Formats: sequence, structure tokens, C-alpha cells
Amino acid sequence: VASFDLLKALNAISDVVQNRPPAIRVFDQIYMKFGDMLLQTEHASRVLDKKKTIFIGDGDAVGLCLMHLKKDIFQRGPASILVLDFDERIVNSVNSFAHKHRLEKSIGAELYNVADPLPKKYWEKFEAFYTNPPFGANNEGRSVWAFMRRGIEATKEKSVGCVVMADYPGVSWSKQNIHKIQTMALKHGFAMSEMLPEFHHYHLDDVPELTSCSITFEKVNHKKQSYGSKPLDGETLKNFYGRSNPLIFKYVRDLRNDNKYESQDYRLERL
Ligand SMILES: C[S@@+](CC[C@H](N)C(=O)[O-])C[C@H]1O[C@@H](n2cnc3c(N)ncnc32)[C@H](O)[C@@H]1O
Repeated sequence: VASFDLLKALNAISDVVQNRPPAIRVFDQIYMKFGDMLLQTEHASRVLDKKKTIFIGDGDAVGLCLMHLKKDIFQRGPASILVLDFDERIVNSVNSFAHKHRLEKSIGAELYNVADPLPKKYWEKFEAFYTNPPFGANNEGRSVWAFMRRGIEATKEKSVGCVVMADYPGVSWSKQNIHKIQTMALKHGFAMSEMLPEFHHYHLDDVPELTSCSITFEKVNHKKQSYGSKPLDGETLKNFYGRSNPLIFKYVRDLRNDNKYESQDYRLERL
């Protein structure tokens, strides 16, 4: 781990965390704890250094942390970041933070659902991908693969991928899923170059002790292919966010228009 100013770094992470919309548990939005966010950002700043990077989903806002800490704290990080997410609140929160902190040239976000084919304009255009997907507890890691596959489709030769997935000895499915994802990655021309096991913790009510790992993959065999992204198959959609919790929604819409409208969470009563 590089040396850096801890107080400055924690306050910068706090800027980003403060800007995030509340997590929606039913879509597996489960936020990483702040200390782990800092360590993961430091780690990702090395893996993704100088790379044109695509994030497939980013509720945690690691992408914003990377760009916000790049200049004054870590002195390294991705060349640019595009975040794709199906939650408009997340898309808006990334874009408004970028605007506020003059980061528009280095980070932006767009609405996209992984169930849909990757937009053609992004096919094999990036040098790195990052994803912290739904952990696929009840579908043998298919949800993880769905996100990772979009990242692979978006990247060109000699690219890298950073995948955060469950890694906790207390649930047998997590190690099974890691095995499956590594096997799939090998088949698609990637070698695993680094793994930080049981590295992060989450604000998760039902299994608060659950940890995740960060795996770095490097594309060593790349055959340039013409565009061929396909929608996700029915089996993958079925238990996408957990048992009997399928992927059926296209987008989460932002009713507050990025805090410009009144909150829907409370009502005012006069004196
Ligand atoms: C599923 S969460 C995983 C947990 C992670 N710690 C978090 O809360 O961000 C990761 C991101 O994926 C996004 N996401 C969930 N389902 C999606 C879908 N079908 N298409 C695109 N993004 C999706 C969520 O909005 C969230 O930002």
C-alpha cells in the first residue's frame, strides 16, 4: 500500500459517500464500508492506472473515489471512467458530483441494463473494466458473469479487469462462484494476476460478516471480433438478485431529479 495523507483521503471518500443515493437492497445495492472503500480505491488506482476504464454498475461509487482522490492524494488512477448503471439516481449522482468537482472530462455515467446487449459504440473500446456485481448466491455466479461479460465485451487487447465478488468461508457458494468465474475468465483469454481475499465488508443486515475479494484479470489472448453482444438468457435472469428475485426491471428512475425536486421520503406538517 502506498503512503498517503490519511485524513485527506478519508475526507475525500466522505465527500463521495455523502453524495450517494440510499441503497436499494432488493437490487443487491449493498454499500461497502468506508475504510474498505479507501483501501479498494487505493488498490484499484494501481490496477487501473492510466487506463480508459468502464465500470459495469457502481453503487459504491468507487469510480468517483478514484477520480476524486487521483490528483491530490494518490497521484495515479484511470485515465477516464465511464459508469454504466441501470439506476438513474446513481447515474445522476455521478454526473452531478463530476460537475461540482470539475471532473466532467474524466468521469461520466449513463443508463444501461446488463440484460441488454452492450451498446455497439462501446464494443472493444476500453482498456480496463471494473465491476462489483450482485454476488449470485442462488444462481451459481451467473449474475457475476453477466456483469463481467459486459466488461469483457467492452475491452480490447491487453486490457485488465477488476472484479469484486463474495469471498467468505461461512457461505460455501462464494468459493464455488470464485472457482466458476476464474474458469470462465480462463476460457475467455484472461489470466488471474492478483487476488485480495476476504478484503471488504458491507452494510448488510442479514449477513453483516460477509466479505468480498478483489480479483484482477489480465487479457492475454485476444481475438478481435466484430460486434456480437447478446441479451442475457432466461436462466441468468431467473434468480439474478437472489432466490425468486429475478431481473425484471429495466431502470430505476430518479424521482428527485438529482435532488432538484422535493424528497418523496417525508411530508411537512404546519405548526
Ligand atoms: C448490484 S450492486 C452490488 C453491490 C455493490 N456494493 C453496490 O451496492 O454497488 C452494483 C451496482 O449494480 C447496479 N445494477 C444492479 N442491477 C443492474 C442491472 N440489471 N443492470 C445494470 N446495473 C445494475 C446497481 O444499481 C449497483 O449500482
